[in-house]
Amino acid sequence: MALSQAAFKAEQLLGHDTNSITAQDVTNPANDAAWAASDSSMKALAWMGKNKVQVVEVPQPKLLEDRDVILKVTGSTVCGSDRHLLHGTVVELQKGDILGHEFCGVVDEMGKGVKGLKKGDRVVASFQIACGDCYYCKNKLSSQCERTNSNTIENAMYGGRTAGMFGYSHFTGGFAGGQAEYVRVPCGDTNLLRLPDDVPDEKGLYLSDVLATSWNAVVDTGVNEGDVVAIWGAGPIGVMALDFAFLQGAKRVIIIDGVSWRLDFVKERYPRAETLDFTKLGKGESVTRKLKEMVDGRGPDVAIECAAGEYAKGWAHYFEMLLGVETDTSELVNEMITSVRNFGRCGITGVYVGYVSSPASPFRLRIPLSITDTSTSQTNHFNIGSLMERGIRLIGNGQAPVHLYWEKLLAMIQEGKIEPLKMVTHRVDLADIDKVYALFDAQDDGMQKVFVQTRFSAPPCEGSPSLQRL
Ligand SMILES: NC(=O)c1ccc[n+]([C@@H]2O[C@H](COP(=O)([O-])OP(=O)(O)OC[C@H]3O[C@@H](n4cnc5c(N)ncnc54)[C@H](O)[C@@H]3O)[C@@H](O)[C@H]2O)c1
Ligand SMILES: [Zn+2]
Ligand SMILES: [Zn+2]
Repeated sequence: MALSQAAFKAEQLLGHDTNSITAQDVTNPANDAAWAASDSSMKALAWMGKNKVQVVEVPQPKLLEDRDVILKVTGSTVCGSDRHLLHGTVVELQKGDILGHEFCGVVDEMGKGVKGLKKGDRVVASFQIACGDCYYCKNKLSSQCERTNSNTIENAMYGGRTAGMFGYSHFTGGFAGGQAEYVRVPCGDTNLLRLPDDVPDEKGLYLSDVLATSWNAVVDTGVNEGDVVAIWGAGPIGVMALDFAFLQGAKRVIIIDGVSWRLDFVKERYPRAETLDFTKLGKGESVTRKLKEMVDGRGPDVAIECAAGEYAKGWAHYFEMLLGVETDTSELVNEMITSVRNFGRCGITGVYVGYVSSPASPFRLRIPLSITDTSTSQTNHFNIGSLMERGIRLIGNGQAPVHLYWEKLLAMIQEGKIEPLKMVTHRVDLADIDKVYALFDAQDDGMQKVFVQTRFSAPPCEGSPSLQRL
């Protein structure tokens, strides 16, 4: 049995907590007639097993709770986080689960408890599902809502749990995602933001995640006027973080990756940025040494991780992960710690799951029996000495609290301070989204960020790439 299923079985054995105000494990309307609108059909992208996704025909979702909204999806995308789901790194996905946590659309139906919206409103959803009035929601820390995810394993593993999330496995509640023609949005009055007429879907969509996440990475790690910032990962998150670091007054931003076209993409769009390709380092050179060289012998003030813990670089970590004795590599975090100046700041925004991810793992079968055993999740060779002795501040940026930022970011789009289309390289159709997963995961030439249209989408706005069938 694959790890994903084993962990889900364990969750079933243990039983969910009772904290959630919304139904859990509602990942596909085809799984229960009570969740499906009668005589209806739609296209959706489903996870079918490790490294396999497929466009399927399933019934449309229907209203289940008073605060539900049914959205006609007009735009979605594929995220670096979807790569982790594809690889099976995030556990508790089940075959047939509908993916997609970034989407926008038009309100089609509403439960009687929904206030502030009307049918036909054009809206964007946050990737997290927040209740709107628990302790965290009151502080707009929506990604940590206490009432939308009742997963017991996550709580035991982490000592607390995140909010529920769309299309992000049963580990975060089990909600069908928006890589589909229709999606059910629980607590729709809280988790949807109206898009004004001057913000087309192709710009507004990215408020659901990328913009808020990159903004959070920059402000939460504390980029100040005059700072030198180094960013690991030149994917959409890293590049928007670079954009925002400059906006926050950074003097220099250096972006590190091993995919050369991504670094060329950055140079072309952000001539002020500096790039570092770690695959081009000579013998005896290292990212840390190079960064010290580039920044006064001391290193950058701030480091931000926008890559992920599953991407091991050296052979030692690669094999440890393969054997299941490590779950998330410490290489990138160690590089950040040793690279920044003394008392520098390091923020982690790339995903670290902390779970056995290899089917070969000797610990795998112990999960159902001993969920709090920390030997089931580990990051080896962490350089705690450097962290302590040199006073490095290591910050987990968390799943980004979208609600804290999205109104401000929307205004910044309207004022022209942010141009989300700068990262969008492809416009594709939902019917081809399974192929996008493969291309995006292979980091195929030039695919930085996609806009996925459906049959309900408006024609491309000015500046949007034109449709490309795959
Ligand atoms: N915290 C949050 O709220 C949140 C939200 C969205 C995405 N994320 C995470 O942010 C990360 C980045 O997302 P993305 O959409 O840009 O993903 P992506 O996969 O497109 O980009 C990641 C980039 O990191 C690079 N990389 C891999 N190993 C590296 C290394 N050792 N050093 C430097 N670069 C390396 C890859 O080549 C790639 O270009 C992902 O882990 C994603 O899951 C977090
Ligand atoms: Zn995302
Ligand atoms: Zn809440």
